Amino acid sequence: MTNKKAFIFDLDGVIVDTAKYHFIAWQKIASHLGIEFTPEHNEELKGVSRIRSLEIILGLGNIVASQEDKNYWLTQKNEDYLSYIENMNESEILPGVRAILEFIKEKNQLIALGSASKNARPILEKVKLLHFFDAIVDGNDVTNAKPDPEVFLRAAQLLNSTNENSIVFEDSVAGIQAANIANMLSIGIGETKTLHEAQFCFPSFLHIDTSFIDTIIKK
Ligand code: BG6
Ligand code: MG
Repeated sequence: MTNKKAFIFDLDGVIVDTAKYHFIAWQKIASHLGIEFTPEHNEELKGVSRIRSLEIILGLGNIVASQEDKNYWLTQKNEDYLSYIENMNESEILPGVRAILEFIKEKNQLIALGSASKNARPILEKVKLLHFFDAIVDGNDVTNAKPDPEVFLRAAQLLNSTNENSIVFEDSVAGIQAANIANMLSIGIGETKTLHEAQFCFPSFLHIDTSFIDTIIKK
């Protein structure tokens, strides 16, 4: 086991501003199905898998769909989403993220990705952040969606770190719950009123001082 700290980052809504694209793409599907889908409903979709997201939307409209229909909507959603992220570049990295990644690297600590997305790698490549990551666990590697802690447990395992030495940055309620279940330090990025289960919460990485990260490293 390493005695370095393992910093595990969610992707969508934490590293890059893709949460808005997921929302727009799901809203289109919901409107095709005649289902009202609001930003409040969308909070429930953050951090959860593509299939689980569709099931939640269908549930909002009390719609029972065949597997074939589900596959159709899943493909439509992803094609639409891919069209939004096609031309993504470094300008869509969320404020303060790069500085924190650089600081953690400078301090010789470990960095992993823990994301539900199956599109994680191409996105990290597009925004040119892939080289920061010592391990990547994404939607292609796990079977259980957040709040199940599988994605974070695997990331810690790949980094040869204990759960107690792992820190999770998350913008979703499900992700914060997953980190808490795993006994990791949960840090919410977003509104405290939504992420009240997080051990710490900041509106963005711009509000996280490097001295805060340093204190965690030295713990
Ligand atoms: C999560 C997002 O990171 O990944 C969810 O918060 C998304 O909104 C999920 O549905 C799955 O992503 P993808 O890219 O595999 O459809
Ligand atoms: Mg997220």
